[in-house]
Amino acid sequence: MNHASYDAFVQPRSVAIIGASDDGQKTGGRTLRYLDTYGYEGEVHPINPRRASVQGKRAYPDLAAVGRPVDLAIIVTPAEHAVAALEQCVTAEVPAVITITSGFAELGADGAALQRELQAVLRGSATRMLGPNCVGLVSVRAKLAATINTGMDQDRFDLRDGGIAFLTQSGAMGAFVFNMSQTRRVGLGSLISTGNEMDVSFPEMLHALLDDPAVSGVAGYIEGIRDGEAFAGALRHAQEVGKPLAFLKVGRSPLGVEAIASHTGALAGSDAVYSGVFEQYGVTRIAGVEALADWAQMVDLARRPAGDRLSVTTTSGGGGVLVADHCTDLGIRMATWDGEWQRKLADALPEYLSARNPIDMAGTGGNSEALREVLALMGDHPGTDVAMVLIGNLDKEEDPLIQVLHEAHRATSKPLVVVWVGGSGRPVVELTSRGVPAYTDPGRALQALSGLMAAQRAAARPPATRPPIEEGRRERARALLTEARAAGLGVLDEHRAKQLLALYGVPVVQETVATDPDAAAAAAERLGYPVAVKLLADDVAHKSELGGVLLGLSSAGEVAGAAKDMLARLPRPVADGARLLVQPMVAPGLEMLLGIKRDEAFGPVLVVGLGGTWTEVLEDVQLRLPPLSAEDVDDALGALRSARLLGAFRGAPERDRDAVVAAVQGLALLAAELADEIAELDINPLIVGPRGNGAIAVDAVVVPRVACPSSTPEGARP
Ligand SMILES: Nc1ncnc2c1ncn2[C@@H]1O[C@H](COP(=O)(O)OP(=O)(O)O)[C@@H](O)[C@H]1O
Ligand SMILES: [Mg+2]
Repeated sequence: MNHASYDAFVQPRSVAIIGASDDGQKTGGRTLRYLDTYGYEGEVHPINPRRASVQGKRAYPDLAAVGRPVDLAIIVTPAEHAVAALEQCVTAEVPAVITITSGFAELGADGAALQRELQAVLRGSATRMLGPNCVGLVSVRAKLAATINTGMDQDRFDLRDGGIAFLTQSGAMGAFVFNMSQTRRVGLGSLISTGNEMDVSFPEMLHALLDDPAVSGVAGYIEGIRDGEAFAGALRHAQEVGKPLAFLKVGRSPLGVEAIASHTGALAGSDAVYSGVFEQYGVTRIAGVEALADWAQMVDLARRPAGDRLSVTTTSGGGGVLVADHCTDLGIRMATWDGEWQRKLADALPEYLSARNPIDMAGTGGNSEALREVLALMGDHPGTDVAMVLIGNLDKEEDPLIQVLHEAHRATSKPLVVVWVGGSGRPVVELTSRGVPAYTDPGRALQALSGLMAAQRAAARPPATRPPIEEGRRERARALLTEARAAGLGVLDEHRAKQLLALYGVPVVQETVATDPDAAAAAAERLGYPVAVKLLADDVAHKSELGGVLLGLSSAGEVAGAAKDMLARLPRPVADGARLLVQPMVAPGLEMLLGIKRDEAFGPVLVVGLGGTWTEVLEDVQLRLPPLSAEDVDDALGALRSARLLGAFRGAPERDRDAVVAAVQGLALLAAELADEIAELDINPLIVGPRGNGAIAVDAVVVPRVACPSSTPEGARP
């Protein structure tokens, strides 16, 4: 969306309401009434062919009759008139349209047909449209309440714009969150409901919001993104411009559209992809509506932290421990105060329990002068990135304490977060109205803070760039896939899969294909002992289940004998044409899983996790999108529950983490280059040796993509 279109949506100079009703309570009349109530200062033109005036304003029979340029048209007609209404907008070259009217793709086939008519009207024009089936848009800075959201009836609102935008795929949820946030005086200054996203999509609007200098952060409510690539592009853009994002993403049930043949596919449901993508780009995944407002308030009011080291001063030793616990869970570090700084603290405090972090001021906490000194020290202390004050009750001392906190907030460039539990409740209201982030619960405050820190960390490192495609390599890779398809194989066997991996620099075990047990024994003689002998048969992805993996064989006789027995035990159709794969035994190490799965919206997604026997039991995987920097991969490894197994653990040596990172990056290259041709890929296991000894894929499965999945649904859910 270009700047002119975006501006026409959020700061229009004139608005026309097509289908405006005289009854301000009706859907068709509400928007006009709200524009008035909230003091919109631009021109407003009601369009209604049956009336000369609407709600006391001169009405026009159609848009052409207005005779003046209109920036934003809002369509509130019944669905059957919406196409004609949009035609007027296109003819009048209106840059921005919000179609609030519902009755389109969200209603099924007939509605979808009507929506296609609407779409046809827009084609080839410069007019951009939000909706249909949305609650509209509120832009506080433009005093524009272009919405049917009845929450606006509570005109106790003196709306506040703190530069936070809320973009929502659910109109009603958007309305709730907007109302609740404004009631809390959180500066959620724009509400944009995307509805069916017939034209302007969620990712596109997100991108435009990030380019708006007046927007400092964006929160969102997501049910499902259709264009994952555009969405990831917007998230990368947020990382580039350093603006924090937080999304409430609903719908955790897996969407298994394509057949699931590998571990990777089964482990990585669509919702898990969102979680991984959010982690990757430093986006906060929000659990609920209050948490969303907590986050928005932090982004609105708090200074940006330079790091993740927190110092807290409190009147409660117990509270200090609680803060430390939350910090552990959220990955926030407690700042260290060394001897010199401890002495300074001790000098400042007439009576204290702990002059280290958490700084327990005990009874001194109500003493505003002592608090002032501690806050000054926290401001100066070079090891403190964020200062927190945790107090409670203190009704009698409210005013001087509020004063000290306010002044300290103004005096420092570090974020200062206040948590005031209990008491009259007034200090939290008063502090936030003075621009000091204040909360009633340390857990909620720290949760919001951790979101801000994640965004800062993401902004501090450049997003990975897409590597150039190497045509020669891609041709060879495609040839392998084509050959498998031509052979009628749904799955590339282990040997072919590893050839594909080797093209992308993923280390694979050396191996020989043998046609019968005697040939396997001869191959083993050449490779040296001990060896592994495995079944190599068409469309067999999990060999162990058929007894098809023989490990640690140490002589030609053993190889030939064990292979004969194995083949004899196989069911007939598998045994026919079965071959054998002979490999050296790789020294035991940490078994990991690496893979690619195709997500309907995001395309190829990389999966990394614990492999071997524990894969299905623990479901410990992380998902990321290509391209991936080494740092991205390292973060993903660190986010695994089993991350500690990569370090020195219970007598086992530290693992070759760099080799895992390199293997994942090779796979990311493969995913990017063969994006449309791989349905699933699974390396299980990658055996990771001690540091410096590398990592090696001993088994792999590749499921080529046969046909493109059918087109995605058009409707958004109400
Ligand atoms: N070349 C090898 N060296 C050492 N261990 C191996 C080798 N090949 C397989 N294994 C071990 O055998 C297990 C099963 O083998 P794999 O090839 O993964 O069969 P499956 O098709 O059943 O997944 C692996 O998880 C690994 O522990
Ligand atoms: Mg395996």
